[in-house]
Amino acid sequence: MSANERLTLAVQRKGRLNEGSIDLLQSCGLKLKPSKSTLFCTVDNFPLDILLVRDDDIPVLVKDGLCDLGIVGENVLNEQSNQPNQAAFNILRFLGFAQCRLSIACPKEINFTNINQLANSRIATSYPNILKNYLNTINVPAKIVPISGSVEIAPRLKMSEAICDLVSTGRTLAENDLKEILIVLQSQAVLVQAKRKLPPSKMTILEMLLNKIQDNAKGGMPNENCLLG
Ligand code: PRP
Ligand code: ZN
Repeated sequence: MSANERLTLAVQRKGRLNEGSIDLLQSCGLKLKPSKSTLFCTVDNFPLDILLVRDDDIPVLVKDGLCDLGIVGENVLNEQSNQPNQAAFNILRFLGFAQCRLSIACPKEINFTNINQLANSRIATSYPNILKNYLNTINVPAKIVPISGSVEIAPRLKMSEAICDLVSTGRTLAENDLKEILIVLQSQAVLVQAKRKLPPSKMTILEMLLNKIQDNAKGGMPNENCLLG
């Protein structure tokens, strides 16, 4: 390993993944050095630098080689992997935190008994790629209405009859008089790398990091389909 070689890891700056990501690194014994930047910090006792970014940016940063690794939700990874030339990720570890599901929900007063009730309805979502694949799989022709946030407001605004969004505690759905009717995807945090090979010096660091995560009680399960660790 060359003395100054370091790995870079992209982590969510704020939101559902941040706390679990930082907890995981600290419980592996990594000492994160306080930094005046809220976007970057280094690890004192291990050759790792951490970039704190928006979770939606993590797949691209990793794919383009701007970061060696990322901790991201399967929801974001799957949504972006559906785009052309993005089948480019290796999931190294399923990390077990930030568990949530991407679900279709509708106003609670609707008597939903059959998936065909969604046919020709409008479904608002910020996950159009995952939703499109799902609707194809269940063979229900619904119209996807892309919206980038506050998806739960769409039925109230008569933008759509249903929504497809993340559900964790279910509080946001309840607050908006919506109910979950179909689970599209189960999601948790994963550690990802681009499919392209890392130089040998960085591979050595990655193997050490994966051992730390594996040895850690709260750490992730190795991905059996992965060639590393
Ligand atoms: C998600 C999602 C829901 C909410 C669900 O938003 O969009 O609005 O969490 O969580 P709950 O079931 O516990 O209420 P998040 O805060 O993750 O922001 P993002 O979707 O913009 O990343
Ligand atoms: Zn997000």
